[in-house]
Amino acid sequence: MPSFDHLLEFIVPEQRFPGDFLWGAATSAYQVEGAVDEDGRGPSVWDTFAAVPGNVKNGDTGAVAADHYHRLDADLDLMASLGLRGYRFSIAWPRVQPEGTGRPDRRGLDFYRRLVAGLTERGIRPAATLFHWDLPQALQDAGGWENRDTAKRFADYAEIVFDALEIRDWLTINEPKTVVDCGYRWGVHAPGVRDDGRAFVALHHLLLAHGLAARVLHERHPGRRVGPALNLHPVYPADDRPGTAAAVRHQDGLENRLYLDPILTGAYPADTLEWIARRSPMPEHVLDGDLATIAEPVDVLGVQYYNPLVVDAEGNRVLRHPTAQLDWLEIYPKGLYDTLVRLTRDYRPVPIMVTENGVAAADEVGPDGRVHDEGRVAFLRDHLSALAGALAEGVPVEGYFVWSLLDNFEWAEGYDARFGVVHVDYATQGRTPKDSALWYRDVITTGRLP
Ligand code: FCB
Repeated sequence: MPSFDHLLEFIVPEQRFPGDFLWGAATSAYQVEGAVDEDGRGPSVWDTFAAVPGNVKNGDTGAVAADHYHRLDADLDLMASLGLRGYRFSIAWPRVQPEGTGRPDRRGLDFYRRLVAGLTERGIRPAATLFHWDLPQALQDAGGWENRDTAKRFADYAEIVFDALEIRDWLTINEPKTVVDCGYRWGVHAPGVRDDGRAFVALHHLLLAHGLAARVLHERHPGRRVGPALNLHPVYPADDRPGTAAAVRHQDGLENRLYLDPILTGAYPADTLEWIARRSPMPEHVLDGDLATIAEPVDVLGVQYYNPLVVDAEGNRVLRHPTAQLDWLEIYPKGLYDTLVRLTRDYRPVPIMVTENGVAAADEVGPDGRVHDEGRVAFLRDHLSALAGALAEGVPVEGYFVWSLLDNFEWAEGYDARFGVVHVDYATQGRTPKDSALWYRDVITTGRLP
């Protein structure tokens, strides 16, 4: 991996983090658990999608993944040894309700009860995501997110896990935009649809599901907190040609305002909605009261930042910065600063947690038994420096969860793209903390960037 040192374009004087800053790492169920046929788990859309040749690189699937389901205790010890103060994981809906409806399977809930107990014993704060893309296949067969009923089923599922698990912080839907774009517009993720008309109908029901679940939490468990986990992409002009500013605004609508506006202000952005209405029956699916539901107050906003988007007057993406192993992952740390500052500038202040940020590389364990991922160390340092800059501007960021704790199943990219701060040898399931994990542990201990 190239060195990204030159990317530290701006110097932030204060690199010290608050003493109660929540230093964490994140994973998601299908990407790490494996054990897809065990303890009553039903199939999810990702089992189905990954089974189709050509959908995932090398024909990889999440059937075994990092085998976290069987290695829970050792992985909990690993988290403690890295000094983590927080752990963000997702709950597999098909473990809790194998068909997406009806009585919960106790075995599925027990796994997460053990996880939460293990974290609590080790002084690690859990943050749970309700939905990280593994929709029960039975619900997909009934129309998936295009079916309004799925949002109601989601609220029922949310009620079950809210009541079963002692967790203060909850994230509802992970990256609704990725489901819409990758899953329904471009067909590169489950369920593999390529249809703008259907995609934006799914979008509305994903947001409705978020709002319904948030309302359930507020009604049943006052004092706990809930919010969405949104991947935000700052959009920049490639040039100053006529038309570029409008293209930037349009792209910003699709990337950011389409999610932030309804959730934080109770209205879809008019310009984006008008564009959508020309290609999708989505507006007909927005019923009276839906926007009030979607705008159920957010107690904590999950922000996920990977890359900026630079667009030209035709709306095409222009690559301006170095990219990591995956070509979409253009590295631009200041984009995190811009995103965080923009949130407080354009929306009412909400406590923020950076629920994902990280970089992929083809890491290998060297002859010395270590993984020298200096590119990731530079990436993390520069992004945390950007975060410190936003804190200095008064942006209420409470925590940061590196993506990811472990190398894992990177969706359509399979296992080649390694995002972990801990290396996983998939042949033996051995774990090796990379240099970045050791570096991160020191940051956690000292509360400052070296
Ligand atoms: C995000 C996903 C996460 C992981 C990272 C690299 O879009 O939420 O599961 O795949 O990208």
